[in-house]
Amino acid sequence: MPKIKEKRMEELPKLKNTLVYTEFDKDHPAPKGKWNSEVFTKAQPIVLELACGKGEYSIGLAEIEPQKNYVGIDIKGNRMWVGATEALNRNLDNVRYLRGFIDHLDQFFGKDEVDEAWIVFSDPYIKKERKRLTAPKFLTTYRKVMKPGAVIHLKTDSDVLYEYTKEIIDQEGMELLEDEPNVHKNRPVHPKLSIITYYEEMHLEKGKTIKYLSFRLG
Ligand SMILES: C[S@@+](CC[C@H](N)C(=O)[O-])C[C@H]1O[C@@H](n2cnc3c(N)ncnc32)[C@H](O)[C@@H]1O
Repeated sequence: MPKIKEKRMEELPKLKNTLVYTEFDKDHPAPKGKWNSEVFTKAQPIVLELACGKGEYSIGLAEIEPQKNYVGIDIKGNRMWVGATEALNRNLDNVRYLRGFIDHLDQFFGKDEVDEAWIVFSDPYIKKERKRLTAPKFLTTYRKVMKPGAVIHLKTDSDVLYEYTKEIIDQEGMELLEDEPNVHKNRPVHPKLSIITYYEEMHLEKGKTIKYLSFRLG
């Protein structure tokens, strides 16, 4: 492992805004159902950034809407360290990061504990539909922790993931709220859509069109 990655992975669990749950340990349970009472300093609606990478969305949204609490979730600790450190530097008291698998979300959060979620440039898994974060298996997990009718936002460069998600919204009878096939053609770009992540920057440099969907988890 390169030295810098090794150092970050060692530091990550010690950062005061980061929780690591890569293995399930009964002596060290996740604060399921207790995020607002035990983790955050102020009880506020909880918003997840799924597949957060370097966590730019949690930071950006926390600055736009400080009246909400944000949890960035990803399995990659090296990237997460960047966001967690930045959130600490900016004194963002309403941002936390959780290193773990999104597949295990119901082990980390209680029923109806989550109000909203952003899925930002998650992998389209061209050949493995079941691994897509908007696949029915994941929606079933989200329903275990999100309030009924909670809003999910998807921002992606992938036509495959965009079209697939629209099909799933239709198939599952969920309410499509917004469908924007080219986020950056609008001027000004909506502030929440103008937060640019590491992957988005790479896709924009390649001239890719960024798409956005929001829907109600029914
Ligand atoms: C393409 S990157 C995007 C990162 C970031 N959102 C961005 O826009 O820069 C996708 C991220 O999803 C994470 N990921 C994919 N499937 C996951 C899962 N089931 N549980 C946790 N993280 C996952 C990967 O570790 C990776 O960091």
